[in-house]
Amino acid sequence: MGRESITITDNRTGDSLEIPILNGGVSAAEWQKLLPGIWFYDPGLLSTAMCESSITYLDGGAGILRYRGYPIEQLAEQSTYLEVAYLLLKGELPTAEQFEQWKHDITYHTFIHENVRKRFLEGFHYDAHPMGMLVSAVAALSTFYQDAKDIFNLDSRWKQITRLIAKMPTLAAAAHRFSVGMPFVYPDNSLDFASNFLSMMWKTAEPRYEANPVLAHALDVLFILHADHEQNCSTTAMRVAGSSHADPYSSLSAACAALYGPRHGGANEAVIRMLMEIGSIDNVPDFIASVKQGHGRLQGFGHRVYKNYDPRARIIKQVADQVFEVTGKNPLLDIALKLEEIALADEYFISRKLYPNVDFYSGIIYQAMGFPLEMFPVLFAIPRTSGWLAQWVEMLDQDSKIVRPRQLYIGPEKRDYVPMDKRQS
Ligand code: ACO
Repeated sequence: MGRESITITDNRTGDSLEIPILNGGVSAAEWQKLLPGIWFYDPGLLSTAMCESSITYLDGGAGILRYRGYPIEQLAEQSTYLEVAYLLLKGELPTAEQFEQWKHDITYHTFIHENVRKRFLEGFHYDAHPMGMLVSAVAALSTFYQDAKDIFNLDSRWKQITRLIAKMPTLAAAAHRFSVGMPFVYPDNSLDFASNFLSMMWKTAEPRYEANPVLAHALDVLFILHADHEQNCSTTAMRVAGSSHADPYSSLSAACAALYGPRHGGANEAVIRMLMEIGSIDNVPDFIASVKQGHGRLQGFGHRVYKNYDPRARIIKQVADQVFEVTGKNPLLDIALKLEEIALADEYFISRKLYPNVDFYSGIIYQAMGFPLEMFPVLFAIPRTSGWLAQWVEMLDQDSKIVRPRQLYIGPEKRDYVPMDKRQS
């Protein structure tokens, strides 16, 4: 076997340089020693590793996902979202004592400042999208916690992390209640993480909201599946904003904004809209044919990294069965199953390695549980908060550089300013 390295030659000068291959990558800093000022052209960063990370392992070809080494299947079956959040942040599963403390701290940081709700959230237009409200509300939190700027003070850093993970469900539910004209529900510290969120979402006049345990557990599993996914668009946004040493609320707001789009966290909403548009199983073949002709995409299919069945989609399918036992079957499920069946047997999708991703079935479950479509990206942001923060902490601990990529300039050469009255239309 040859050496674990590459050799590059500058044909202009004949100079060569050998660069070692380390952890599956080659150092761009080494490359620069031979070729200063020659940049990698990599739109969408398809071939660029922006960091070293020990949080999430993903093998898209084999369909493997692990958090800190633990297979996602085992975590989904045996763990809880709060335990997974701790694992992502600290690198190890908590002991019983550590977990009790963590659960206690999260539970007692769920309340939000009254001004956030009364003055800030209630200032939105009546039909504001809850994800837009969340993006803004998370950024606004930075103005309530001045100590958040002290990002290299480890006690302060942990306090902000606790606050963010605890308050996201409260902000999310508050945004929903506002958008439907319902009064805000305060957190109930006697409930677990998922049940408390469901209580803040759905409670009406009853003294205590009793979440259906099957639905609370299903939501918790969905939270585990969405907690981290290495260097995706929103996590990269978190690292980019965080690399300027902005406080964690501002950085996390940037991550939420990146998650908002239909190519990322908005995809499960797009899936439901697509399924509603298809309307019936009979229309599925025509719909697939139109996608193949280039009229839109099959939402919830395909992934930048997975070129195999997304392991999260497999788990979600099982969760769907449990949820539908309680809620009754979502009529869109049959259309989704038919779409999957036809697409997985079709040369177009096979040759491009397009398989269902996490969003293909998650929206159907959320809809069956009663969540409006606008809440889908919000439901993604709640658990992803722990992943974003784990990545942010890792970045700060690595003494990373501020993110500042280069460009290949293709605009005009130097030209002289033309006064307005001399310009041609
Ligand atoms: N439906 C139909 N064709 C598709 C789809 C799709 N969902 N996804 C990709 N393709 C096709 C493209 O048209 C392209 O075909 P071509 O080679 O003939 O031009 C080929 O597959 C490669 O597509 P790219 O856009 O280059 O793939 P990329 O890795 O950049 O995109 C993405 C990944 C954005 C997820 C894409 O598959 C997509 O748009 N999927 C639908 C939206 C979606 O489900 N997003 C959720 C992603 S998971 C998440 O964020 C949690």
